Amino acid sequence: MVHPFSHYQQSADLIRSRMGDFTPDIALVLGSGLGFLGDMVEQPVAIPYGDIPHFPRSTAPGHAGRLVLGTLAGKRVAVMQGRMHHYEGWSYEEVSYPVRVLKLICCETLILTNAAGCVNTAWAPGDIMVISDQIKIFMESPLRGENLAEFGPRFPDMSKMYSPALRALAHESARELGLELREGVYCYFPGPQFETPAEVRLARTLGGDAVGMSTAPEAIVAVHAGMEVLGFSLMTNMGAGILDQPLSGEEVNATAEACRDRFSHLVLRCLEKL
Ligand code: HPA
Repeated sequence: MVHPFSHYQQSADLIRSRMGDFTPDIALVLGSGLGFLGDMVEQPVAIPYGDIPHFPRSTAPGHAGRLVLGTLAGKRVAVMQGRMHHYEGWSYEEVSYPVRVLKLICCETLILTNAAGCVNTAWAPGDIMVISDQIKIFMESPLRGENLAEFGPRFPDMSKMYSPALRALAHESARELGLELREGVYCYFPGPQFETPAEVRLARTLGGDAVGMSTAPEAIVAVHAGMEVLGFSLMTNMGAGILDQPLSGEEVNATAEACRDRFSHLVLRCLEKL
């Protein structure tokens, strides 16, 4: 199904009815390990996804499933505590539905975070990558179907999906914190199975530095709607086949948990500087 523009408006209306005169400027989508940032929002108004008409619900473990509005690092934010994934059964349109709603409630900047598998063999688990570009060639686009011109054009330009200015700001933030920051290409795979070693080699051959199951659809919809996008991947594991050991969701969560302070400091510093 293609949601008509009126559905997005109805979602935005419900959120506006709860947020009073508050208007967020920046939206954040919190991936594995960073969900706790939603609990740090000051003067929070939390809206469960289930209260918002037409909103999909996140079912992934460790994803709370609520929108938190308030102040974080001195900025007015809308935080998605929990995101939707295609592997949960949502279409790409549904996965990225919230991004358009965030645009309607006035967020012009979107910060996307995720846990990812490391494809670049010069890097290691625990490394943080600011996303320079993405590859999403598997399965259809979230923009498939009738174009909603209220958001953007039929054939949107994707030459600079991840804002060069925001990437520079991320590097500056990392330098200030004395933290090493990688930069590279995020290669999307739909999951939920981890990639095979051959698929990880494919990703590397195509120019990918990380593989993951989120972020790319949301970024496409955000760029279509004219939002500025900043993306971060935390390398929670080496991609399949690089090390002679199996991958597991437990390993991903354990690394995400172990790195959460460093990762969150970087995101908060970027927010401060925005
Ligand atoms: N592949 C895909 N998604 C992931 C991975 C991975 O290796 N690690 C964390 N998310």
